[in-house]
Amino acid sequence: MKLLLRLMSILCPNKKIRKEIRAGLRMEKYKKTNAIDVPKHLQKYVWLDIRGKNNRIKIGSVSFGATKQLHIVINGSDNEVVIDDGVHIRSLAITIGESGASPKAHHTRVHIGEKCTFAKTSIFTSHSNTEIEIGARCMFSSNVYIRHTDSHPIYELNGKHHINHVEKLKIGDHVWVGIGVNILKNVQIADDCILGAHAVIAKSFSEAHCAIAGNPAKIIRRGITWNPEHTVDFIENKRYSTDVSELK
Ligand SMILES: CC(C)(COP(=O)(O)OP(=O)(O)OC[C@H]1O[C@@H](n2cnc3c(N)ncnc32)[C@H](O)[C@@H]1OP(=O)(O)O)[C@@H](O)C(=O)NCCC(=O)NCCS
Repeated sequence: MKLLLRLMSILCPNKKIRKEIRAGLRMEKYKKTNAIDVPKHLQKYVWLDIRGKNNRIKIGSVSFGATKQLHIVINGSDNEVVIDDGVHIRSLAITIGESGASPKAHHTRVHIGEKCTFAKTSIFTSHSNTEIEIGARCMFSSNVYIRHTDSHPIYELNGKHHINHVEKLKIGDHVWVGIGVNILKNVQIADDCILGAHAVIAKSFSEAHCAIAGNPAKIIRRGITWNPEHTVDFIENKRYSTDVSELK
């Protein structure tokens, strides 16, 4: 059966079917040493590149927009990537460990909460034993980078003390991440915030309902919330709500 599928993945005249068969074969290959749980009908949109074992990938009932790209690259073992139900993806890349031969990352976890949307986002860490947690109903615009590592060490000239440690990165529920935002290591963002276009977020913001913008990012507004529907429709419908759990 596998041989037949391999042949079809090369010889089948329909490009779409060839792509689907190849995706299925890739999943089967990784399933031998990793726990991969991706709904069958979504496998053709999910590109996996895993070098390691005992990794767990669980993708819920997600939907895909125009570009239909979900890349997950893992270089290491015992890592976990979980994407909850209702997430909508145009383009999302998640990388744990450097994509080359080293360094590898182990026991690291990336979790994306339900109903988040991604236009074009890259999430990356090369560290072991760390976590990237994204809450529910967040909206990510294009060219967003979440970089939970500096990749290279910084240390004191005298004393040889290593400075740039990686701990945990957390984005709360219902956070709108504007176009071109860079979120750097260890950042924690409270619920219901807006990160303004091209902000560089290098420190944590613990106050909810704020707009944060600039480089270095600062709070520019307090006591606000937002709605994912288009502004034009929103103005027509006047669907103001102060209950954040009601805001899709
Ligand atoms: C963050 C944002 C939502 C705030 O909008 P707003 O509440 O109407 O804010 P204003 O435009 O009134 O600006 C308030 C202040 O913040 C500053 N500011 C606003 N956005 C900024 C940004 N992205 N970077 C730096 N400063 C910014 C303004 O210059 C202004 O400064 P001032 O008080 O010194 O005059 C908006 O500016 C933004 O960045 N929008 C882009 C959203 C996006 O990326 N959408 C893509 C589709 S998902």
